[in-house]
Amino acid sequence: MRRPWARDGGGHPDTATQAGVPSAPVDGAPLLSLRGLSKGFGPVQALTRVDLDLPAGQITALAGDNGAGKSVTIKTISGLWEPDGGQMVWEGHPVVLRSPKEAEGLGITTIYQDLALCDNLDIVQNMFLGHERSRRGVLDEASMELTARRTLEELHVTTVRSIRQPVASLSGGQRQSVAVAKAVMSHAKLVIMDEPTAALGVTQTRMVLDLIKRLSSQGVAVLVVSHNLNDVFAMADRIAILHLGRSVASGPITDFDPQVVVDYMTTGSSTRAGSGHHDGEG
Ligand SMILES: Nc1ncnc2c1ncn2[C@@H]1O[C@H](COP(=O)(O)OP(=O)(O)OP(=O)(O)O)[C@@H](O)[C@H]1O
Ligand SMILES: [Mg+2]
Repeated sequence: MRRPWARDGGGHPDTATQAGVPSAPVDGAPLLSLRGLSKGFGPVQALTRVDLDLPAGQITALAGDNGAGKSVTIKTISGLWEPDGGQMVWEGHPVVLRSPKEAEGLGITTIYQDLALCDNLDIVQNMFLGHERSRRGVLDEASMELTARRTLEELHVTTVRSIRQPVASLSGGQRQSVAVAKAVMSHAKLVIMDEPTAALGVTQTRMVLDLIKRLSSQGVAVLVVSHNLNDVFAMADRIAILHLGRSVASGPITDFDPQVVVDYMTTGSSTRAGSGHHDGEG
């Protein structure tokens, strides 16, 4: 993948690793693993020993009922919350993320549902926000426009009329597409999306699902929170289900059917289709 923002050889800063952990990936390790992650807010135990594997090049759906801990999980991976216990393992090495900047430094990009883009800025400005290019002290609009255009083309985002139109004038699906394109330009290794299709119609949903698949086919690990089981079964390679802050099932999506997922989401267990969907996570 091209790395349009890379300035110094494209290496990610070795933030977040502690005490000189080597940065070479461990063969066969998932891009990110959560092991026994716990997080409480006063008396509320939001996460209890959560396990999650996010392999590169795969789409993992994170499912669970309201309050199950999906958002807290995402925010912890994104460096917004520090866990009280457990471990995050990045490319086989334990990491501690003390801030969103450190998560970003590793290659983690999170697309929150509403906060992703600035309405008053155009598409190019949004895609380069905080990473503007300049030449001799002047913004290099031509170069940014070219890269933005190419990135959107590579992702087959074809319905946008002008990349100089303000994002406020885009449809929900187009906005999501721009947010995904922005994540692609940040050469993220892990893209996290919270309910990317929640506000979208049928056609737009298909467009965004295609885009997410294209992202994963480029080797990016994708974690998607979705309430829509149709979407989950249409796009995900893997699923992980939380119930009351605990991991209750995970594995290849082909090991599940929607009814089993609903069972796990609502009761934390399922008596259908054999026992246990824990792929080596205890
Ligand atoms: N900042 C916070 N302070 C206190 N409690 C919190 C905070 N954030 C989340 N919680 C609690 O943690 C638990 C998990 O919340 P979380 O937002 O992760 O649920 P969710 O799975 O994202 O649900 P939803 O599908 O409704 O978005 C809930 O009991 C919630 O009340
Ligand atoms: Mg949530």
